[in-house]
Amino acid sequence: MRAHGSQRAQLHGWANFIKGRILEMLQRVAQSRRVFAALTLLVGILAALSLILPGQQEAVAVPHTITPGQYPYDCDWPDVYLILQNKCAACHRPNSDRIDLSSYEAMIDAEKFGHKLIVPGNPQDSMLWEYVNWNVHQKPDALAPRKPEMPPEHTEWLTAGQLETVHRWIKNGALEFTLPISCKPPLTEMDFPSAQQCKECHPKQYDEWSRSMHAYGQQSPVFEAFTLTLIERTGGTIGTFCTRCHTPVGIALGETGNTRNVHRSRLSLEGVTCVTCHRRNTVHYKSSGRVPVTPGALLDTCMFGPFDDSPTGPATGTHPSAEFPYMKTSQFCGECHDVTSADGVRLEEAFSEWQNSPAAKMGQTCQSCHMGPVQGKPVADCDRPLGYAAIVPGMKQDKLPLRNLTDHTFAGPDYSLLPDTEFPEKLDWMYEVDYRDWDNLTPYQKQTLTALRKKNRRSLQIADAKRYEVLKNAAVIHVDSPGFAQAGRKTAVRVDVESIMAGHSLPTGFTAERQVWVAITVRDSKGCVVYASGDLDKNADLRDDHSFQVLSGEIPYDRDLLNFQNKFVALSNKGTDRTVVLSVNRNILPINVLRPNNGLSASFGRPGTFRIAKGSLPPLATRGQTYRFTPEQPGTYTVDVRLNFRHLPPTLLDHIGTPHLKHLLEVVIIDSWSGVIEVTP
Ligand code: HEC
Ligand code: HEC
Ligand code: HEC
Ligand code: HEC
Ligand code: HEC
Ligand code: HEC
Repeated sequence: MRAHGSQRAQLHGWANFIKGRILEMLQRVAQSRRVFAALTLLVGILAALSLILPGQQEAVAVPHTITPGQYPYDCDWPDVYLILQNKCAACHRPNSDRIDLSSYEAMIDAEKFGHKLIVPGNPQDSMLWEYVNWNVHQKPDALAPRKPEMPPEHTEWLTAGQLETVHRWIKNGALEFTLPISCKPPLTEMDFPSAQQCKECHPKQYDEWSRSMHAYGQQSPVFEAFTLTLIERTGGTIGTFCTRCHTPVGIALGETGNTRNVHRSRLSLEGVTCVTCHRRNTVHYKSSGRVPVTPGALLDTCMFGPFDDSPTGPATGTHPSAEFPYMKTSQFCGECHDVTSADGVRLEEAFSEWQNSPAAKMGQTCQSCHMGPVQGKPVADCDRPLGYAAIVPGMKQDKLPLRNLTDHTFAGPDYSLLPDTEFPEKLDWMYEVDYRDWDNLTPYQKQTLTALRKKNRRSLQIADAKRYEVLKNAAVIHVDSPGFAQAGRKTAVRVDVESIMAGHSLPTGFTAERQVWVAITVRDSKGCVVYASGDLDKNADLRDDHSFQVLSGEIPYDRDLLNFQNKFVALSNKGTDRTVVLSVNRNILPINVLRPNNGLSASFGRPGTFRIAKGSLPPLATRGQTYRFTPEQPGTYTVDVRLNFRHLPPTLLDHIGTPHLKHLLEVVIIDSWSGVIEVTP
């Protein structure tokens, strides 16, 4: 065997040597095609000989990288496929009375009225081109029609780049892109349907989802900056930890943790997109977000949902579907909504908190509070509004049953910090043109950009209304303020914050950043502030140990501050605790490396040098503060009390290098109270 092997290797060596020589010669004489062909043949024969000589059975030395028959291919096909999937295939389905545009096989032989959809090599005679082509550059003398036949939606017309791709693809022979069988194909965008594909048939779910934080999770500039900061501080050892929940599809596509958003695929920027929740039928418990999403084309792969009787599948030209009861449990959400880092720090605990909550005992799930018509209030399935789960083009609506529908807005305190040209929606042509230069735009682009911004603003207004709604359902304040006081004598106002939510603590989830605090201001009869707590410093930070001004001694520390924010606490080299803004410090020693704990982190639930000081208000609990001050002069004093919520502190944005976003932070008033104190001499 051995002898054979080395013999073969030798022969191979020879063959390769000769091949190399011949190729060198080739370069010199390549002008003549005939010489080229003859030489190629020779190389072929030599290569074949080198395989055959040692005996046929063992001719396995050269692995195939190219399988005959699968080629030729065209790398424009994936783009053409995605354009047609996202813009056409919901209407142009199998078994409908339109041409089926859902797969290569269906398209390549399709014809209607004796007219071929695609004539390889000839775009002008192809119905596909004839239907989508239009005067995209809006030149007055162009031959192309003013508007395309398809797609019907004005904002979806093919862009200049997309038209070019379709044209080139047909001209080059309309070939499919296929990878050789011997190569284990990587997952691509073709394997995960985009939310754009669901839009046509599930407009309600799409609309709600598109303005949700699930759709924003990866696009968030704060998330991106935060992740990159931690990647830098951990020398990259944090890997894809941060992106695994924020873009599960991006992870499946092999994007690394530090890929900038501009380099991510548009599918990856959809964040927690439809298929991350609906292409799963396995139970993973608390997996800190490593959730598998089943790959496959829309029509080939099952979609899991709450119903066991959906009229989906080949007969209606829609995706197959099945019931997955686990989807209605809190644990399903808990797979992402409990974040534990590799070294055991429990960064987020929404699910764990819920497990120990009164809501869990009462059978209220995340879905009952977060997917009902009133955000944050538990609603039974049967009290959800009735409607159709799908509206399928070309299908009679009464073929579908009426359902109790969920709300996919998933409102929380977070909101988009992006311009209204980027979120919730962005148009395809905006990826090809610098749309900030208005004078550069065609009339079509101007029209659709204005329409888009109007639409986005309407959508964001709804998102805002839902955001205020969920926050208002979190807590109330009770104030005990004396009606009268004596000048020069200490007096006290008592404020109690009562959680009216049984589901989890307030705040929950991203708790080291969320701020829920009591702001109280007492003014004398002239309007001068005589006492304040929960007021903000120059940077709009609270006067606590994260305030630059407090730390530098410029202003006093707010001793009475009642803030339910959790704080990261790190053990310093002096053996004392100190709160920190980010979960990874900047020190060089010890080197910040994120690895599973090498000690028994299970005994402590965290590494020995790091913890989270929980300040959050447990479900249905009440916690308060007594504010004492001395009114010096007689008169009418006013007391203003507010329960405030802010989703991110300004100092955090300084720490992650995004101070330009600070002006977008909004303080939401959850509850307020005002009254007077008559101060007598
Ligand atoms: C909202 C549903 C809808 C969408 C989206 C849509 N079409 Fe159509 N399409 C139709 C209807 C309805 C017809 C038949 C009536 C007509 O010709 O106007 C049609 C007809 C066609 C035809 C003529 C052959 C036939 O099936 O009748 C072609 C070709 C076509 N569409 C291509 C496209 C392409 C390409 C896209 C995407 C870029 C697209 N369509 C998007 C609804 C749609
Ligand atoms: C196990 C899933 C998971 C992992 C891993 C994860 N997150 Fe999150 N992240 C979430 C969830 C869920 C929320 C929403 C929590 C809330 O709003 O209270 C969130 C919210 C956030 C937000 C606030 C939203 C925003 O855009 O402003 C930021 C920032 C963020 N995460 C950054 C990170 C960073 C940095 C990492 C890596 C250290 C990380 N996340 C890892 C699930 C995860
Ligand atoms: C964070 C996970 C998540 C995401 C993302 C998500 N869904 Fe859902 N969806 C659910 C859950 C959970 C249910 C069932 C809840 C129940 O019945 O209590 C559901 C229900 C549905 C239903 C059944 C009808 C209804 O509205 O209740 C449809 C259809 C649906 N989703 C489509 C979509 C589409 C389309 C998208 C993307 C645009 C999407 N979903 C995104 C979790 C998700
Ligand atoms: C061509 C139309 C069409 C498209 C496109 C489509 N769906 Fe559906 N979908 C349907 C129909 C019809 C139903 C059945 C509705 C019912 O049972 O009331 C359905 C049901 C569902 C359900 C509930 C399934 C169950 O059994 O509980 C989910 C979840 C769902 N779709 C998700 C998606 C997602 C995600 C996408 C995009 C990736 C998508 N759909 C694209 C037509 C479509
Ligand atoms: C009884 C109703 C109820 C239940 C059950 C419930 N929530 Fe909430 N949730 C709320 C309310 C009200 C708020 C707004 C207050 C707040 O932000 O903490 C909220 C806020 C949130 C936030 C944003 C928190 C923040 O401050 O950033 C997340 C994330 C969240 N819930 C996830 C979940 C998950 C996951 C579950 C299930 C494990 C769940 N919720 C169960 C009512 C509920
Ligand atoms: C694949 C991971 C994943 C799953 C599964 C998931 N979420 Fe989320 N969720 C996230 C991430 C990441 C965010 C943070 C996005 C942001 O704020 O930028 C988030 C945000 C939220 C928010 C908004 C929080 C805020 O601060 O505004 C709510 C509410 C929420 N999720 C509820 C749910 C519920 C209920 C379920 C189960 C039906 C669920 N999520 C399932 C990853 C997930």
